[in-house]
Amino acid sequence: MYDGWKIIPGLIIFLILLLFPLWNQAFHPGKAGITPNPELTETAKNAEKCIEPKPFMKTQHMKMLDEWRNEVVRDAERYYKSSEGKEYYKSLQITCLECHSNKSKFCDQCHNYMGVDPFCWDCHIEPKENE
Ligand code: HEC
Ligand code: HEC
Ligand code: HEC
Repeated sequence: MYDGWKIIPGLIIFLILLLFPLWNQAFHPGKAGITPNPELTETAKNAEKCIEPKPFMKTQHMKMLDEWRNEVVRDAERYYKSSEGKEYYKSLQITCLECHSNKSKFCDQCHNYMGVDPFCWDCHIEPKENE
């Protein structure tokens, strides 16, 4: 029977060692790297609050932007009423980037860390709304 009883556990250990970094990375993305540190601009600091509370913004901003886009483009619905009852103009450039004008030190901080690259900037960012 050769040394099968030795080889098989050896193989399993080898595979675990081989796959562990991948597995670890999948469950704790970027853990080994530097943590993202999105910076607030002076405008944002003065405003003190985002459109919705920070934990919501952190996890839901992509959904919010997606909804804004659909509502503006499909329904020409241009105003968002926040949970605090404040109104915001639904615009990536005019609203979000008014406070977060430091895209590379804010949006990109997290996105680079998470490995997401929103394609929005192909069209947005150039202030085409100003035409
Ligand atoms: C009036 C200024 C203002 C506007 C407009 C604004 N933000 Fe914010 N944003 C802030 C401030 C201030 C904070 C930090 C809030 C805090 O610390 O409680 C923040 C926090 C965030 C965070 C969480 C950051 C973190 O460190 O976890 C995200 C994500 C975010 N904003 C995205 C957006 C997006 C997307 C838009 C447009 C839909 C937007 N913001 C519009 C001022 C603004
Ligand atoms: C606190 C960290 C953080 C900040 C700050 C942040 N984002 Fe994000 N963003 C994320 C994460 C995480 C995802 C990916 C979520 C996913 O894959 O489910 C994401 C995804 C997105 C998406 C969807 C991309 C896609 O391909 O699905 C858009 C659009 C987006 N962010 C816009 C912005 C904008 C605009 C800003 C700056 C105003 C910003 N984000 C700031 C963490 C952040
Ligand atoms: C192919 C070009 C293109 C791309 C890519 C694109 N957009 Fe847009 N977006 C537009 C145009 C054109 C409008 C309509 C502008 C208007 O009516 O004011 C628009 C409108 C919007 C609006 C509402 C109006 C405004 O001023 O912001 C939001 C929000 C928006 N897009 C978010 C996004 C997000 C988030 C992404 C990336 C996930 C994205 N867009 C990618 C072209 C694009």
